[in-house]
Amino acid sequence: MALEAEAKAISAKFDYTDEDVNKGVQEFLRQMSEGLEKDGTSLSQIPTYVTAVPNGTEKGLYMAVDLGGTNFRVCSINLNGDSTFHLTYTKVAIPKELMVAKTAEELFAFLAQQIELFLRTHHEEQFEKHLRRRMTISSPVGFVDEDVFRLGFTFSFPIQQLGINKGTLIRWTKGFDIPDAIGKDVCALLQKEIDKLHLPVKVAALVNDTVGTLMARSYTSPGKSGAILGAIFGTGTNGAYIEKLSNIKKPMQGEYDQSTGDMVVNTEWGSFDNQLNVLPNTPWDVELDKESINPGIQMYEKRVSGMFLGELLRLVVVELLKKPHVAFFKDESSDSNDWKSTTNISPTSSLYSQWGLDTAIMSVAAADNTPELVTLRQELETTLHVYAPSLEDAQAFKAIAGAIGRRAARLAAVAIAAIVLQTGSLTNPETADEPVDIGVDGSLVEYYPYFRDMIYEALRVIEGVGEEGAKRIRIGIAKDGSGVGAALIALVAAGMEKAEPKEYFVDYIGQLRRNAKDHALGSLEEEADDVAARD
Ligand code: GLC
Repeated sequence: MALEAEAKAISAKFDYTDEDVNKGVQEFLRQMSEGLEKDGTSLSQIPTYVTAVPNGTEKGLYMAVDLGGTNFRVCSINLNGDSTFHLTYTKVAIPKELMVAKTAEELFAFLAQQIELFLRTHHEEQFEKHLRRRMTISSPVGFVDEDVFRLGFTFSFPIQQLGINKGTLIRWTKGFDIPDAIGKDVCALLQKEIDKLHLPVKVAALVNDTVGTLMARSYTSPGKSGAILGAIFGTGTNGAYIEKLSNIKKPMQGEYDQSTGDMVVNTEWGSFDNQLNVLPNTPWDVELDKESINPGIQMYEKRVSGMFLGELLRLVVVELLKKPHVAFFKDESSDSNDWKSTTNISPTSSLYSQWGLDTAIMSVAAADNTPELVTLRQELETTLHVYAPSLEDAQAFKAIAGAIGRRAARLAAVAIAAIVLQTGSLTNPETADEPVDIGVDGSLVEYYPYFRDMIYEALRVIEGVGEEGAKRIRIGIAKDGSGVGAALIALVAAGMEKAEPKEYFVDYIGQLRRNAKDHALGSLEEEADDVAARD
């Protein structure tokens, strides 16, 4: 059958063999070392200066905001002082026009407005109290400092970190493009807009989502060795891991504590192999990149993350639709026109516009294993306005979507394995009986069926990992890790403001491990209505 054969041939182009996976790992390791030696390489390997921990003052209300994907989240985290916390959050979709605004001010003003709205909704009492004080107390800023919320800013783009709450934007990713913001301190940009609204909020810490995920996972995952890697497989993809200080050869500007011998490094692996030494490159990858706002950049991310997989699939589908000899989404494709109606695509279907195919439908395709593919066929109707698709159409769609998803998972295994090997976690005799713990978050790992299974399948064939190694690697979801992680770091930063800095530059990772052991798991309570609003 022409359609089935065509779908098979296309799927084969997304094959990423065991040999490719192994080659990918070797190149990833090489590019990691290169990034530790000098700036300007494809893997940025950004030192985060994260070395300090809460020192027992784990009480109080902290805020965290998260910018970096489809939504902007604002949350408050009430630390109860006994390692448990209560988290409340709201999220709002970021208007598309703000992602490409003319000035940084437009975007950051929107963020500050959301913070105000959140405070008014969830912390009205404190907020009103602050407002009243502001009217009556004549301090230079109008606030009593203790009443100011400390905020952890999760900003999930490549940043040159200059201090715990200072960092300049290197480049935008994931569809954002506001050239005006490049090179500017994003904390200062946000603080300026917050101050314009007279909000009692101080931006205390700047954190990448992967670093937050690593922190939150280290805090909550049991075992004597904490997590070695925090990774995001969502709209974008990236990982932060624990590197030995002695391996970081490039100069670092900020101050840091050397006593731990470790530092968290933000790899910015979305840009792994921008030079395409080993990454697969189908004609659709080429087209997607060409039409993107950052051609030649984030080449790994464009093959792995949620923002791009749907678009890749869309490009394949559109090409198939143009082939006169292939009956795809056309009535003749059906053996027996089983829905007794004519297959057609609405001329206004989003299939015909860039980004018009949401990656979410790939999860539906992967999850639907029924003989008639009823759910997928309904989804094709409702989201893409493909009317009465035949079983054969849906099978072809599912096969191609599956091939793209599988390649993404196997590429994800490349990054994970390379980091496991780089840290030596599988060969360290001190932790030989411990799992190698990895915290992950993001829509792909959360919602794409079998994503983790496919990662494990690839890990098992990687030299240096193998069956036994793969068994020891524990990939666990660090849910809302970036929010909790940012709040934890904001807490540390607030402490640093008051004390001699030295006191707080303690063994961050070691302390997190001890906390985890002392308190078992931190509990994450969420308000029911907030859970309902989840991604
Ligand atoms: C993009 C960003 C990176 C972030 C990742 C996941 O790759 O550049 O900073 O961590 O997306 O959100």
